[in-house]
Formats: sequence, structure tokens, C-alpha cells
Amino acid sequence: MTDQPGYDALADLYDQTFPDGYSSDEERAAVDRFDTALADSGASGPVVDVGCGTGHQAHELSTKGFDVIGVDPSAEMLAHARRRFPDLALVQDDARLGSLGTWQLSGILARYSLIHVPPEQLADVLAAWAMRLRPGGVVMTAFQAIETDAAHDVEEFDHVVAPAWRWRPDAMSAMLATVGLAERWRMVTPPADGFRRFPECHLMHVRTSRRGAAPAR
Ligand SMILES: C[S@@+](CC[C@H](N)C(=O)[O-])C[C@H]1O[C@@H](n2cnc3c(N)ncnc32)[C@H](O)[C@@H]1O
Repeated sequence: MTDQPGYDALADLYDQTFPDGYSSDEERAAVDRFDTALADSGASGPVVDVGCGTGHQAHELSTKGFDVIGVDPSAEMLAHARRRFPDLALVQDDARLGSLGTWQLSGILARYSLIHVPPEQLADVLAAWAMRLRPGGVVMTAFQAIETDAAHDVEEFDHVVAPAWRWRPDAMSAMLATVGLAERWRMVTPPADGFRRFPECHLMHVRTSRRGAAPAR
């Protein structure tokens, strides 16, 4: 499993910096949109928050009646999530979700965690997601973006906690499409003074094809 020593070391600071888990109203609205899409899809299996960090979004999903599992490689981020939300199901694992077997998931939320997956590993991670998503399953990803008209797809940036890469929205969406996930919605927010150095992108996809699908258990 991927180690995240940077997040382990800075988990207390992270928790203090984002006491309610969000840094803007747009982010909150995007997650609400994910919750609504999940409900509309008739979600019947678990929903995974990939890179759940201190657990706020996973907790919100559980209060809305979804069966949620928070997954994160950082033991210290998970310790904060556990302290704050003792009833939340939490698993120490990375974005490949190897410990989740072949569950048929209803949805995956991945806010600012795919940025820490080295680009050459992203295709395998997304294939692992598609294999575990039921048809109609909803995926929301949020990530620091590069400009939509940039000539390149991905570049490393100086994240304070861990190695990180930002993606051109179309390139990330195309990666998701290759595993059978069709884009349904996107929001790109421009940089903003104080807390957002780069454009940020939220993408919502739905699993439409059976490519990469595992048999239901
Ligand atoms: C910027 S934080 C975001 C936390 C939470 N999703 C949120 O929105 O507040 C990034 C999280 O991704 C986790 N992470 C780092 N590498 C990861 C990987 N390879 N797979 C899954 N999660 C990872 C980190 O441990 C950290 O908790």
C-alpha cells in the first residue's frame, strides 16, 4: 500500500486548517450534487470516499443514509476521522482499493486524492474502480487543474504535504472514459486569492459500460 508520511506528519495541521472539511461554498455544492446523483441512481451498494482524510464528506454521506466506507493510506488522517466520527467505517488503504475485494459499489468520491497518484499509475487505479462499480454507479473527482487550453495533460506541482500532480480537465475526463465512465457534469473554478493557487476541477461520471466490470457478489 502507498505510504503517506507527509499526511501522517501534518494531519493535526490539516484538521485545524479545514475544521469542516471544505474551503469554499462551490466545493460544498459539488458534493451536494454528488449526493443527489447517488440518490437518483437508486444507490444500493456501498459508497467509497477515496482519500477520505479527516472524514467530513464520508460522514455527511452517512448522515444522508448511504452506506459509506472511508479509505485513506494515512493512519493519522484516519485517526482524526475516527475521533470525530466514531461510527464511520474506515479502512487504511490507497486508491487502488485492494482491500475492498470485488464489492459492487454505488459510488466513489475522490476529493483531492487522485492528485497524489503518480500519473503512470492512474490508469490502473481507475480500472480498479470500474471493476468495483455497479452499472449506473456515480463517481466524483476533484483535483487541482492545469489550464483547459494547456498543451500538456499533467504536471507535478509543489504541494506542501506530498508529491502531487495537477491535470487538464479534459485529460482526466478522458482517462475516466477509457474505463467505461461517461462524464455527466463538470465545474472548473478559477484561482482565488488566499486559498486556491490553481484552477480546480470537479468532474462527475457515471459507469455506463461493462468494461472492466467484475461479476457481482
Ligand atoms: C488533500 S487531502 C483530501 C482529504 C479529503 N478527501 C478532503 O476532501 O478533505 C488528500 C488525502 O488523500 C490521501 N491520499 C494520498 N495518497 C493517496 C492514494 N494514493 N490513495 C488514496 N488516498 C491518498 C491523503 O492521505 C489525504 O488524506
